[in-house]
Amino acid sequence: MTSRVIPVDPFDYVVFGGTGDLARRKLLPSLYHRFHDGQIPDGSRIIGASRRDLSESKYRDFARESIEKFVAKEDRTAAKTKKFLSMLSYVAVDATGASGWKELARHLGDSERIRAFYLAVGPDLFDDICQQIGKHKLVTPNSRLVIEKPIGKSLESARAVNNAVGAVFSEDQIFRIDHYLGKESVQNLMALRFANALYEPLWNSAHIDHVQITVAETLGVGTRGNYYDTAGALRDMVQNHILQLLCLVAMEPPESMDANSVRDEKLKVLKALTPIDAEHAAKVTVRGQYKAGAANGDAVKSYIDELDADESRTETFVAIKAEIANWRWAGVPFYLRTGKRLADRVSEIVIVFRPIPHSIFPSGSGQIHTNRLVIRLQPDEAVKQWIMIKDPGPGGMRLKHIPLDMAWAETFDHRHPDAYERLLLDVIRGNQTLFMRRDEVEAAWAWIDPIIEAWSHSGTTPNAYTSGTWGPSASIALVERDGRTWYEETV
Ligand code: BG6
Repeated sequence: MTSRVIPVDPFDYVVFGGTGDLARRKLLPSLYHRFHDGQIPDGSRIIGASRRDLSESKYRDFARESIEKFVAKEDRTAAKTKKFLSMLSYVAVDATGASGWKELARHLGDSERIRAFYLAVGPDLFDDICQQIGKHKLVTPNSRLVIEKPIGKSLESARAVNNAVGAVFSEDQIFRIDHYLGKESVQNLMALRFANALYEPLWNSAHIDHVQITVAETLGVGTRGNYYDTAGALRDMVQNHILQLLCLVAMEPPESMDANSVRDEKLKVLKALTPIDAEHAAKVTVRGQYKAGAANGDAVKSYIDELDADESRTETFVAIKAEIANWRWAGVPFYLRTGKRLADRVSEIVIVFRPIPHSIFPSGSGQIHTNRLVIRLQPDEAVKQWIMIKDPGPGGMRLKHIPLDMAWAETFDHRHPDAYERLLLDVIRGNQTLFMRRDEVEAAWAWIDPIIEAWSHSGTTPNAYTSGTWGPSASIALVERDGRTWYEETV
């Protein structure tokens, strides 16, 4: 089976932070992949912009190194790399000062082609860069702006970011990236729900007992401690990635894949989340912070030691029992958890169906387990539907719980594109379906803010957990109190 590649129109992609880590690890390799597959037409330009004084040929060297490091050998050729590099240019621009903007304006010219500005820089520079873009009249009707999280660290600061970018670009020109939405397996959630007649009639509180969403990492915070310690797992992962996954699981069928139809439905879910106030936070949320332990067989330091600090109250793990107060989901808990330095790197959504109402089988037939639909997002993308069957052969009615297992790697033989490949070109196509709208981001913060406030007023600190485990025991208690258990055996 091969993938289908639809070329886009020629464009100019301006990457602010063009010499930074995101450009090196993700943006340039992703654009190369799309070029290699024939999706980027001749005449398109990728313009690196940053404060560094760099010649065009030095910028191309930087891009070549990034491609050689992050694109597998079998996915590149010398000839295509050379051609790709010829699309690259560089302009030294000072985001907070005047220098370089006129050069950039000259470089862009007055072309009406699609022009994307990717701000691969810290959010503190969004406002300045947008103002300069506006001041130098670089916004054309065909322009788009791409920004990444963190979009604020509270509702108030998110509004400030949205106001700043909104002063220069209209909402339909703003592409807020949540890279989870670009993951193939996340998009597959929509296919699974809305391209099959099988699940949708069961997709409600009458048939679903609860939902689990786990995004577990084995990595620690590494060199990102400065940022991470001001954010924590709730802001870093739950406010965006996990709530986006929850929305895709819980939303009503949108009228179409049109960006606003999908985003309207996601917004309704966010608004229906039951608020977690100070009184409930202690019961339905768990915070953790990793101690020293092991990761992938190696001894690893505690969070505090990695941070090289004396103390920190920042959570590196969070588990939440969330509820959605609407007709479809009332009474169905959504257990969310994410953390660093956990036992395995796995992102999974588990839909746990209700038990059968009555067993006709004699005792001794084996336990009847509930049906579960497991959507494995990463690694090893797969969909598994756990069902009960009769164990074949003699010995009477022996029941067995087995997965109907669809692993991507066995079904599709083509390379799995990185989330950024899809998202970078959706920007050019002007398709905002996989990008967060302003009101979604703000509704997510409106739900997160009271949790942060409750934690900060509680006088408590995160529960310690040993690196290489599934988080603090309070997380296990959170679901066991409800007579349920985290499904780790599917991992
Ligand atoms: C980022 C977070 O948004 O997502 C990181 O800031 C996290 O802390 C990362 O490690 C996880 O992304 P992925 O694609 O590796 O699951």
